[in-house]
Order: sequence, then structure tokens, then C-alpha cells
Amino acid sequence: MSSSVERRAAAVRAAWRLAAALLLALAGGAVAAQELPGIGRPATPKEIAAWDIDVRPDFKGLPKGSGTVAQGQDLWEAKCASCHGIFGESNEFFAPLIGGTTAEDVKSGRVARLTDAAYPGRTMLMKLSTVSTLWDYIYRAMPWNAPKSLAPDEVYALTAFLLNLGNVVPEDFTLSDRNIAEVQQRIPNRKGMTTHHAMWPGKLPGAAARPDVNAVACMKDCATEPKLASMLPDFARNAHGNLAEQNRMVGAQHGADTTRPAGSAGVPRPAAGVAPAAAARPSAGAAPTALLTRAGCSACHVADKKLIGPSWREIHGKHGSRADAEAYLAGKIKSGGVGVWGAIPMPAQGVSEEDAKVIARWLAAGASR
Ligand code: HEC
Ligand code: HEC
Repeated sequence: MSSSVERRAAAVRAAWRLAAALLLALAGGAVAAQELPGIGRPATPKEIAAWDIDVRPDFKGLPKGSGTVAQGQDLWEAKCASCHGIFGESNEFFAPLIGGTTAEDVKSGRVARLTDAAYPGRTMLMKLSTVSTLWDYIYRAMPWNAPKSLAPDEVYALTAFLLNLGNVVPEDFTLSDRNIAEVQQRIPNRKGMTTHHAMWPGKLPGAAARPDVNAVACMKDCATEPKLASMLPDFARNAHGNLAEQNRMVGAQHGADTTRPAGSAGVPRPAAGVAPAAAARPSAGAAPTALLTRAGCSACHVADKKLIGPSWREIHGKHGSRADAEAYLAGKIKSGGVGVWGAIPMPAQGVSEEDAKVIARWLAAGASR
């Protein structure tokens, strides 16, 4: 082992020891705290309650409350429609939430179009099998820019509204902790989830732990070249940023470097402790437009049309003539902001200082291709 590799390995071991000690401190409270004086304290019951918000399929953990479809519609239009569309159909880049389910599915509990290869989309409602998951997800994660800001009654209302859009409940419906179990019996794909497979060898009566692929091992005259049946198109390869930078530094799962074409050698992984975004991106001389895709800006901005954020052209139009345009724009890219263009905030972007400057210079100069 080279000494730098040894140092890194030692640092990783030390980090693991610290993480393990902290876990012990959390689990064992006072005992572990004595072992590491000055580090940590037992979590208070209030802290645990704020964290422990999961809602199970049997509705354990569901707070009491209720909300109507009409209340949900008002909330939706104020807090959700900007990203997910007025009818949950979503805009150009978010996956649609509603659509693709039928009255027949509500009766049968299986969404027929999930097995129809000719049907183009897979919406949230097509795949949803437990209404508790929808409730829980909205409560913990939405709206994206302000998670955990909704009160239980608001989450009931929003869930009712989405289910009404999907024709699961009528327009005058009030969803509550008292009738949610009945609503579960109307979820279009409620029978679509199976635990009859080897990845989840549950103790269902009669369920054998059998794999969910049915292949026969080839033992003779086998083909040596794999045949690819489908592939991610090139334009989508890096659509969610570089996967190599989004995996943990430890363990076997190292994600492809999606800034490069499939099959090319990956860049070396960044050293532990170095911010991955800054370390692995070879940005010197990179074309600004490629940078925008790589940094994930293109999810919200395009050249000449408003998406979630203003178009590049509009941004140039508003700020291009400022004397401090470059510095202003680079600062905004790093720190995010709200209110210059409307009520939707732009989250702070994890781009390097250098990349932010390259983009800001390009924006200030006219944002041309
Ligand atoms: C700023 C954009 C934005 C806003 C506003 C927003 N969402 Fe989302 N929503 C997202 C994104 C992005 C995802 C996917 C997140 C992920 O996969 O981690 C998502 C996912 C979801 C999903 C799960 C979809 C699926 O198929 O898994 C639901 C349900 C949802 N949002 C509901 C809401 C509700 C209700 C509101 C309003 C209270 C809301 N969202 C507001 C961006 C937004
Ligand atoms: C989640 C969506 C989202 C992403 C991702 C995003 N932006 Fe934005 N951006 C917005 C919104 C919304 C605004 C408008 C904010 C406001 O009104 O102040 C905005 C505004 C801006 C502005 C103008 C700021 C101002 O004061 O006028 C710049 C410049 C900008 N974005 C650059 C970028 C760059 C560069 C990236 C990628 C590194 C990026 N954005 C990624 C949503 C996004």
C-alpha cells in the first residue's frame, strides 16, 4: 500500500469508529456518553417524536385529522401545481402523478396498463399500492422546497384531492383517519404489490421464497457475448448529475461516471473528506452549456422558455447590463434565492466556485450556445 492509500484507509477506519461510537451513544444513552465525555447527549422524547413520523400500511403512526377535496385543491394550486401541474400531469421534467388508472382498476385492485407495453407512462397513482405511502410521502417530503411544513389536516386534504383527480374518491369527499382504511380498498393498484419473491421471503401462507426472474442456467454451448435488450439513451445518461459522485465513498457500490460515455474508464474516486462535487469534475475549459446539464440546472432552466426557473435569456436580459453582473450571478448560483422572479425558491447549488463563475460569465455575456 502506498502511504497516501494507507493514510486514507486509516482515516476511513477512524471515521467508522467515530460513527459506531455515536450510534452507541444514541442507542445506549448515558452509558456511552460516559465513554465519550463531552460528545452528544441522549435524544429527548420531543426530538424522537419529531423524527418518528412514519405511517405504516396498517395506519399505525397516522395522526388524527381530516381534509376535503376542495381544501386540497386550494393547497395544491398554491403549493404543488408549480412543479406537478394543475392536474398532477406534471410539466416537462417531473414524473406525472395522476393518470393511467380506470374505474375497472378501482374495482379489481390491479392497474391493467402496468402490464400493457404499449402504454407510454407510469404515473405515481398507477404504481401506488398503499394509500399510507402517499400520505406519508407528502407529510415528510413535500413540498420539495419546504418539506415537513404541512399540518396533518393539510396532508389529508392534499391526499383527498389527488385521489379525486384519479377518480378514486368523489369531489365532495372528506378524507380522515377514520375512513382512510376504506379508501385503501379503492386504491387502483392495491393488489399490485407482491411479497411472493425471494427478495422478501415473508411468511405469507403458501409463499415460497422464489426468485422473481425465471431464467434457466445455461450449461452448454452458451453465448459468450451479452445481448443488450435496452439501454439508457445518451442524452439521459447524465440527466441526474454524475452518479459516481452520488454514492457513498465506502463499500462496493461506486456508480458509473455519467459525465463520460458508457464504457469509458471512470475518473479516480475523490479522496475521503474532499467535497465530491468539487473534486471529481474536470471543469477547466468545459463548455458552459454542458456544465448546465452536468450541474442539474437544466431541470429548472432552459434557453428561452420559463420552466421552474426563468430562461437563461431572461436572466441575461434582467441582469446582463449590471456592472457587477458576473459576481451577482455567481453568488446567486451558489447561494440560491427567491423573490426576484416569483415565489418558487431556487435551492443553493452545489457547484464549485469555478463552475459558478464559468456559468455566470456565460450568462452575463448573452447566454448564447
Ligand atoms: C419545487 C418543486 C416541487 C413542489 C413545489 C412540490 N413537489 Fe412533489 N415532487 C417534486 C420532486 C422533485 C419529486 C421527486 C422527488 C424524489 O424522487 O426524490 C416529487 C415527488 C412527489 C410525489 C411522489 C411522486 C412519485 O411518483 O414518487 C408526490 C406524491 C408529491 N411530490 C406531492 C407533492 C405535493 C402534495 C406538493 C405540494 C404540497 C408537492 N409535491 C410540491 C417536486 C416538487
Ligand atoms: C429546482 C429548480 C432549480 C434548479 C435546479 C436551478 N435553478 Fe436557478 N432558479 C430557479 C428559480 C425558481 C429561480 C428564480 C428565483 C427567484 O425568483 O429569485 C432561479 C433563478 C436563477 C438565476 C437568477 C437569479 C436572480 O437573482 O435573478 C440564476 C442566475 C440561476 N437561477 C442559475 C442557476 C444555475 C446556474 C443552476 C445550476 C447550477 C440553477 N440555477 C439550478 C430554479 C432552479
